[in-house]
Amino acid sequence: MNRGCHRGAWRIARRRALELGLGLALAPRLALAQTEAARERPKEGDLLVAVTAGSNPEPLKPDDVPLGDKQTFAWPMDPDTKTVRDGSRLNKVLLLRLDAESFAPETKDRAAEGVLAYSAICVHTGCDVTNWDPKRQLLECPCHYSTYDPKDGAKVVSGPAPRRLPALPLKLVDARLVVAKPFTGRAGFQQM
Ligand code: FES
Repeated sequence: MNRGCHRGAWRIARRRALELGLGLALAPRLALAQTEAARERPKEGDLLVAVTAGSNPEPLKPDDVPLGDKQTFAWPMDPDTKTVRDGSRLNKVLLLRLDAESFAPETKDRAAEGVLAYSAICVHTGCDVTNWDPKRQLLECPCHYSTYDPKDGAKVVSGPAPRRLPALPLKLVDARLVVAKPFTGRAGFQQM
């Protein structure tokens, strides 16, 4: 190999080593940023994806939430980085699609095409609010049977829950469900 070729090869090898070094140095920082983003509470502009979605989740639209049926569970997702905010269960959201005409005024303002979003975590001692009473259109926590009225800001109808479920105001952007504002209150419960 002549001297020119040798120098060229050495330069390429050096550049690759630098790129690799930079990549390795940035990788943990990138992973940390993603972990932090996954733990952050829902933000304005976040999309919503079903908790049952696989590794390539599609943003939810109103029609993905069955009308008058049981709640659909979802995670917020950063629209730019596509980071699903599933790093904290306090980010889990329940969605319902009901007749918007039956909503209290404040609840109507937070809905998007009849879809309502609330924290899925019971404010009593933190179980997932998984039950739905279709007749009374009430959410129910299976642990100690607190019931919440989703048509009226998830106010407590019965049971030991000390306060409403925090609401997550929604809007429609490009026909998709998008977070309009952060939770109206603290998600989760407080131990006495
Ligand atoms: S944890 Fe839901 S009612 Fe107790």
